[in-house]
Amino acid sequence: MLTGKNILVGITGAIAAYKVCELIRLFKKNNANVKVVVTPNALNFVTKTTLESLSQNPINIEQFDIKEYKPEHIALTDETDIFVIAPASANTIAKMTFGICDNLLTSTFCAYKKQVVIAPCMNTNMWENPAVQENIEILKKRGIKVVEPETGFLACGINGKGRLAEVETIYNKVKDCLVPEQILKGKKVVITAGGTKENIDAVRYIGNYSSGKMGIALADNAYKLGAEVILISTVDADKKYKVINVQTAQEMYEAVKQEFENAYTLIMAAAVSDYRVKNKSEQKIKKDGNSLIIELIENPDILQEMSKIKRDNQVVVGFCAESQNLLEFAKQKIAKKGCDFICANDISKKDIGFSSNDNELYIINKELDVYHIEKTDKQSAALKILENIYGKCK
Ligand code: CTP
Repeated sequence: MLTGKNILVGITGAIAAYKVCELIRLFKKNNANVKVVVTPNALNFVTKTTLESLSQNPINIEQFDIKEYKPEHIALTDETDIFVIAPASANTIAKMTFGICDNLLTSTFCAYKKQVVIAPCMNTNMWENPAVQENIEILKKRGIKVVEPETGFLACGINGKGRLAEVETIYNKVKDCLVPEQILKGKKVVITAGGTKENIDAVRYIGNYSSGKMGIALADNAYKLGAEVILISTVDADKKYKVINVQTAQEMYEAVKQEFENAYTLIMAAAVSDYRVKNKSEQKIKKDGNSLIIELIENPDILQEMSKIKRDNQVVVGFCAESQNLLEFAKQKIAKKGCDFICANDISKKDIGFSSNDNELYIINKELDVYHIEKTDKQSAALKILENIYGKCK
């Protein structure tokens, strides 16, 4: 199931640390590569030899044990697909929330940008403490998956919530993150990406700043969910799925028309030029001391045209980039274009959208319900968009 996946297991000082030996064994049995990082206290509960034998790798404990050219906490993050912290103590959860880096595990977490799953484990009163609960909520909002502790007999002698979740439950959560359910298996999904370029003459064009990152992230994630993906893109992308390279809005229109016919979904993430040059010059235009007037004519609105011809079982998704009145304009746009969903983002914010690696979006459906995706990297945002439009949103 997990062949070739690189899992980093973080263990903190809690009695349930011994149970994580079984979790490591399960990961290994399913062909994952496992590395382990522990807090110094964790070794009071489980031995280094046990962890090394099970993971078949040296255990990482010391923050300044620099074996190679990179500091340990950076080296550990490099090839890791998922970081699983189990058991996660109240103390470590607090440090994760506030970015404290006082040991190798917390420093590694701070430097890690991909998926994180935590399985808290602590005394019931500690779990119910508002500080712990608020920290958990903050971590969840930042995209960290939490495997809730279970209720039962605790090592401290009381019966209550706080016991580490069953190893199987933690394993399944990690597996779901690494190998998502194939909800798009057998479905054809057409996605556009990048900004179109409209030629003025042999060397010049009218373009825009779209990097294509959002469209490509959507295509990557649709592929992971099992779809037959067709990416129609103005930017080059070397992918396992089919990529059709286009440049102008007209070329994109022709490619979309052809591919949409038997598709399940069309996602128009591209920034399509509304206009093209009426009389583009085959030769380079020379300056002659006068002003140059270029006449522009309207391009077809691909999203609107496809929404008109779409069948009931097809889903059409548009994007809308606005610099003001985001939700109001987005709601007007979904009505005007006739699509099923609009993903709206605010381009006045410099840290999201266009060339940035991050995005913050609002997804609006035909009933004008709004779903907010908080600022996150474009790959995670893409997965959330797909989960949302296919009704799998949590
Ligand atoms: N779009 C399209 N064809 C066009 C222009 C836009 O398919 N000729 C699609 C985009 O891919 C996007 C959506 O329409 O999914 C919204 O694009 P946007 O530029 O925000 O909207 P416009 O219709 O161009 O409206 P305006 O520029 O007036 O805001």
